Amino acid sequence: MILVAGGTGTLGTRVVRALSDVPVRVLTRSSDRASHLSAEIVVGDVREPATLPPALHGVTTVISAVQGFAGTDPGGAIAVDLRGNSNLLRAAVTAGAQRFILISAVGAAPDSVLDLRRVKHQAEQAALRSGLETLVIRPTVYLETWLGILSSMIETKRAVTLFGRGANPINFVSADDVAALVDHATRAPELAVATLEIGGPDNVTLQELACTLLARHGLPEKINHVPLPVLRAVATLTRPFKPSVAALARFGITMDVTDMTLAEDTARARVPGLPLTSVADVVAQRYPR
Ligand SMILES: NC(=O)c1ccc[n+]([C@@H]2O[C@H](COP(=O)([O-])OP(=O)(O)OC[C@H]3O[C@@H](n4cnc5c(N)ncnc54)[C@H](OP(=O)(O)O)[C@@H]3O)[C@@H](O)[C@H]2O)c1
Repeated sequence: MILVAGGTGTLGTRVVRALSDVPVRVLTRSSDRASHLSAEIVVGDVREPATLPPALHGVTTVISAVQGFAGTDPGGAIAVDLRGNSNLLRAAVTAGAQRFILISAVGAAPDSVLDLRRVKHQAEQAALRSGLETLVIRPTVYLETWLGILSSMIETKRAVTLFGRGANPINFVSADDVAALVDHATRAPELAVATLEIGGPDNVTLQELACTLLARHGLPEKINHVPLPVLRAVATLTRPFKPSVAALARFGITMDVTDMTLAEDTARARVPGLPLTSVADVVAQRYPR
């Protein structure tokens, strides 16, 4: 039995679909959110250790695709990505599981400027110390997540607002490709202990992605920008009393000014033949003309 924690999310849903030939259980805080999945469903919360043993019963491999960072809440990342994953690891060890596949993020490092990447690095360390065979997967940015964010802006405002210039090339990976790697890894003993980065074939700016989507919706290029100096002021001034707003501003600044490309796709080097889905293909499939 494979447990997918976060099986209702953008990646997790695709992982559950990819694992259709093996027994899969999904951990979710709400069975309603899992109604579209063909898998056994267990309701639990990684922040509540007492809710976890039923989810782990008879499980050999745990896949953690949970996240508490909604772009706005550094406290959520600590509670879910770090402490929640630590609770899941302890429950997995107690239940006798062998393998843990942790979805981390590219750039996870103890000295990252991004709260989320520092938290992800700590979660990786907890997994590596757990005694379980641990595969850490560090994806770049999910294309489907950003298509969803931009599309909801376009649908509600018929325009896009970007943090900063939106001119920084960002490596986007399709969550379908990441799910294919996770699926492959569950059947590949040689990947039981590894850390792999995975990205997509394209580096695209948010400005370019927004223009593409506006055109697909038949709308003119209406793109507003929150200037970087404003974002920097917001990040500094709101930190003491609105940390979630400060975190969102820092996230926007980071996406706009730091290198968001992928130096080396170590996953594709280790696993030849993984799908390599382009931005154009995902856009064409989701927004047919
Ligand atoms: N999105 C990106 O661009 C990106 C890039 C790199 C890495 N990642 C990583 O990839 C993984 C999947 O991301 P995603 O974007 O697919 O996530 P998502 O769509 O935001 O879904 C988050 C998942 O986490 C679960 N979750 C949140 N809090 C939980 C809690 N307290 N207890 C149990 N489950 C909880 C949710 O389940 P319920 O709501 O059903 O409880 C949901 O399935 C995460 O680890 C994320 O950090 C994401």
